[in-house]
Amino acid sequence: MNRPDDKFALADGNFIPCIGFGTYKIEDPGVAYRSVADALEVGYRHIDTAAIYNNEKSVGAAVRDSGIDRKDVFVTTKVWANELGYDRASRAIDASLKRLGMDYVDMCLIHWPANAKNYSDWQAINADTWRALEQAKMDGKVKTIGVSNFLVSHLTSLEENCRILPAVDQIEYHPGCLNADTVGYCKANNILVQAWSPIGRGRLLGDHLLEGIAHKYNKSVAQICIKFALANGVLPLPKSTHKDRMIQNLDVFDFELDWTDIGDIESMEDNRRYGSHPDEQNFCVL
Ligand SMILES: NC(=O)c1ccc[n+]([C@@H]2O[C@H](COP(=O)([O-])OP(=O)(O)OC[C@H]3O[C@@H](n4cnc5c(N)ncnc54)[C@H](OP(=O)(O)O)[C@@H]3O)[C@@H](O)[C@H]2O)c1
Repeated sequence: MNRPDDKFALADGNFIPCIGFGTYKIEDPGVAYRSVADALEVGYRHIDTAAIYNNEKSVGAAVRDSGIDRKDVFVTTKVWANELGYDRASRAIDASLKRLGMDYVDMCLIHWPANAKNYSDWQAINADTWRALEQAKMDGKVKTIGVSNFLVSHLTSLEENCRILPAVDQIEYHPGCLNADTVGYCKANNILVQAWSPIGRGRLLGDHLLEGIAHKYNKSVAQICIKFALANGVLPLPKSTHKDRMIQNLDVFDFELDWTDIGDIESMEDNRRYGSHPDEQNFCVL
């Protein structure tokens, strides 16, 4: 990858810009609109939203008002965890399209899997939700379908019960949280991994090892984290409401990380999960 609008090829034949703009926790409509407008202005062509982020209306308006051809902006949304099953998920996709004011999204993901902690029939529920995404793809409402927070067990079960394989798995991924099993499985099965919280929700910015590496390249820790994902073939989704940081987070194509530095980052203790564990979370049981 040499530029922010370079693209990863997806297993379904579609292409996705190699850095996405994250919009989690940007709920205020004015701030969400301004942030997405700024992101598009400084060069992002890939916006990551979700029904639960409560900003789809603003995202859609900012994309429309940008003047950029719709086909040149990749928009992802997600079906939230209280919309599992075929009927609910189908309605959720329609509702997202309506809020976005779009007749299709480039990608829709199942936001969290039904897990064994909360559902004895989690495999069937995930397969049913997935059928809604498959149908939305066949109906032209969604171009690419994928999952989020699916671990290997969720992926293998889904693959036994689906017609179309997921093209993407969006998971927590950053120094100190590498999810190696899931990433390895995805790479072996041509599923693109997207990194959520690629800079650890900002909590990695004071890490001494990362600060040392950043100093060596005359870059920021945020840029090192973003480059680290890209160097591993993982698509980062940094979020910022500050235009200067948006610009900084795209400015990662004028250097390459040495393999020794990548090795040092990979050997950081793997104990920094900042979000929920997919097999533990129970924030939305039907
Ligand atoms: N699928 C899922 O379950 C899931 C879960 C979580 C997140 N996501 C997606 O992944 C995206 C990114 O994750 P995230 O928002 O949790 O965390 P993140 O992108 O790792 O970090 C965002 C935080 O870092 C700060 N920041 C960004 N760039 C910076 C820079 N260059 N220098 C200093 N600080 C910087 C931001 O502050 P300011 O905004 O103040 O600049 C914000 O506090 C989300 O927005 C969302 O789209 C998906």
